[in-house]
Amino acid sequence: MEVEIRQAVDKTLAQTDADQWVARIDQDPAAIGEHVLQHLDASVRSTLEKSTRGQLTNGLLHLKGVFDAATGLPDSPKGFAPLPICLPVNAARLTVLAVNQLLGHAPVSYGSENDGHLFVNLVAMPGQGRSAEKSTKGMRGHTDAVSFPFPGQQDSRHPRIAPSPDAVCLAALRNPDDIATMVIPLRQILSRLDEADIEQLKKDQFLITCQGTFKDGTIAVLGDAHQVEDVSVLLSRGVNDFWVRFSHSNVAPSYTAPEATEQALVKVAQACEEVAHPIVLGAGDIVILDNRTMLHGRSEVGKEVGGNARWLLRSYGLASDNIPKTAFHEGSSFKLWP
Ligand SMILES: [Fe+2]
Repeated sequence: MEVEIRQAVDKTLAQTDADQWVARIDQDPAAIGEHVLQHLDASVRSTLEKSTRGQLTNGLLHLKGVFDAATGLPDSPKGFAPLPICLPVNAARLTVLAVNQLLGHAPVSYGSENDGHLFVNLVAMPGQGRSAEKSTKGMRGHTDAVSFPFPGQQDSRHPRIAPSPDAVCLAALRNPDDIATMVIPLRQILSRLDEADIEQLKKDQFLITCQGTFKDGTIAVLGDAHQVEDVSVLLSRGVNDFWVRFSHSNVAPSYTAPEATEQALVKVAQACEEVAHPIVLGAGDIVILDNRTMLHGRSEVGKEVGGNARWLLRSYGLASDNIPKTAFHEGSSFKLWP
C-alpha cells in the first residue's frame, strides 16, 4: 500500500508543473488529493480504498515510510505556522491529501484554531506561554475539537458550528527520540466500565469546554470561548457501537448532574491510563486516527526546540457527507466554522 501511494506522490512532484499543484493546496486541497490519485490504475486505487478504509475501521491507519522525509529537510520550525517550504513538507501534504481522498474524507481545518491553517507543525515551542509549555509536555488521551458536535447533531447556541473531525492526520518529518504517540481504543475503555457507567456517559449531562488551541479563535468568532452544556460523552450508534468525545481537562459533569456522572468520568480517565499503548511514528510515516473511536495523546516531548527536534504535521479529515454546506467559512473550500 505504501509503495503505490509513494509512487503516485513522487510522480506528482516530478511533473514540470508540480509547483503549481503544490501552490493550490491552500485553495482546493481535495482537488490536489484527487490529482495525486490520478497517477494510479483504477484497480490499484480501488484496492487501496478498500484497505485504507478497512484499517481505519479498527481506529487507526499507520502507513510506514510512505513519503520521503529525508531529502532537503530544514531545521525544525518553532511554531504551529508557517510550514517551512521544502520537498518533505510537500510530499507529506500531498500524501495526507491523497490518503484523505482514498478514505472519502474532505481535508478540513477550523477557522478558530491556528488561524485556520490546513496543516500545522506539531513541534516543541520556545518561551514561557501556555502553548509553549503544552508543546513539550505529555498529553493525556483526548479527542480533537472536543466541544464541537458529533456529525448529525447541532450546537444548541451556534447551529452553524461544524462537526468535530472524523479523523486526525499526522505526518512525521522527524522523530529522532522515538517519542510515542499514545492511542487508546474506545472499545477497550468501555470494556473496563460497568453498564451503569456507560448509561451515565450516554446522557446529556456534561459540560465541555473547548481545548486551548480553540480558545482565542472561538472568542474572536463567537464572542466567548466555546463551551457546550448538557451534552453526552458517548453517542450510541448501534448495539455496542459508540462514538466518543473526551478530554481529561475539558469534560466535566453539568451542574445538575448526579454524582454517578463524576464517577463514570473518573473511570474513563483510569481506563485511559490502563489501556493506552504507544505507536512510534518514524520519519516518513503517516498515521490517520479515527477521532470518534480512538483517543490519542503523547509522551513527553523533551525540551529541544528547532534544529533536530521532533516535528510532525497535523491536519484533519471529515467525511464529505458529514459537512453541511453552511459549515465553511465564506470563500474557503476547507476552513470550517467557527
Ligand atoms: Fe489532539
